[in-house]
Amino acid sequence: MEKLLELDNLHVSFQTYGGEVKAVRGVSFTLEKGESLAIVGESGSGKSVTSKSVMRLLPNKIGFIKEGAIRFQGKDLAKASEREMEKIRGAEISMIFQDPMTSLNPTMTIGKQIMEGLRKHQNMSKSEAKERSINLLKLVGIPNPELRVDEYPHQFSGGMRQRVVIAIALACNPKVLIADEPTTALDVTIQAQILDLMRDLQDKTGTAIILITHDLGVVANLAQRVAVMYGGMIVETGTVDEIFYKPKHPYTWGLLASMPKLNAESKELLAIPGTPPDLMNPPKGCPFAARCPYAMEVCVENMPDATDVSSTHKAACWLLDERAPKVEPPEEAVVGGAR
Ligand SMILES: Nc1ncnc2c1ncn2[C@@H]1O[C@H](COP(=O)(O)OP(=O)(O)OP(=O)(O)O)[C@@H](O)[C@H]1O
Ligand SMILES: [Mg+2]
Repeated sequence: MEKLLELDNLHVSFQTYGGEVKAVRGVSFTLEKGESLAIVGESGSGKSVTSKSVMRLLPNKIGFIKEGAIRFQGKDLAKASEREMEKIRGAEISMIFQDPMTSLNPTMTIGKQIMEGLRKHQNMSKSEAKERSINLLKLVGIPNPELRVDEYPHQFSGGMRQRVVIAIALACNPKVLIADEPTTALDVTIQAQILDLMRDLQDKTGTAIILITHDLGVVANLAQRVAVMYGGMIVETGTVDEIFYKPKHPYTWGLLASMPKLNAESKELLAIPGTPPDLMNPPKGCPFAARCPYAMEVCVENMPDATDVSSTHKAACWLLDERAPKVEPPEEAVVGGAR
């Protein structure tokens, strides 16, 4: 497989009145051509900041890439100029934002909004761009695209609007599509439809996808690999099967236990007790130690290195050290009851 995007020890901070918020602290991952990677983790774990860094859309004068590289087809985007980024954003790498309401312009027809990128990046004539817009609307499953292309966002339902947002993101055939919680604002049936659509589109277009979500449940159908983030770090990464069936990090166990289960007798969801670390004064050891039921002294004092569990599976946890006691994941964290 061909390496498309590679984050290497990325550190991102925000300068606030209260001090420096160390939102992303040493994130590394790779994305291969055409693959889909899910980034999961609780609110505040650094998922959006990581993806905004790739697009270089951090708030001006407040957000900084402090260290590390973001290599896209060999070029380090962390050091790219705004002019270079303008050529990449929306053309080579596209992003669907967390809040679909703010990503469409209410005063412009959706056709115009799809055509904007096409005209800018692909030098298309008006009529070519319009035709391509209609085809894109068809591709994302919008009925009567010839008519709907001239309508405004408020004339579309929430699910249809998100399809339009996806059409805009795909307009220029990007190599990478970053979808930041693309379905959180939608109801469950529509969520499933949008995820199906994304998988379908990936098959058709070969676009690599980074899917960001706090819900492990939504990744199973779409992603091939999963990175679990906590406190600005990736604490575990593996294939979907490895994360679901052989998870090694107690934080991943917590996320799995808090996932709704189809066959569960009790409908009660187990939230992970405690709160995320203070990123102004991040702990020197494992960020999860304060909430981890298995934490040892070493966990509080030292950040564990990532241990290779397999060639595709890594976890940063002291429990994987040979001197640590052997701990099995709790029953609630075991998908399908197969331990
Ligand atoms: N503009 C900002 N100024 C200061 N701190 C910020 C800013 N944006 C984000 N942060 C901080 O960075 C950390 C990571 O935020 P991020 O938005 O990446 O979380 P997330 O994992 O995407 O969470 P969610 O699931 O809620 O979207 C948080 O602690 C947040 O408070
Ligand atoms: Mg976010």
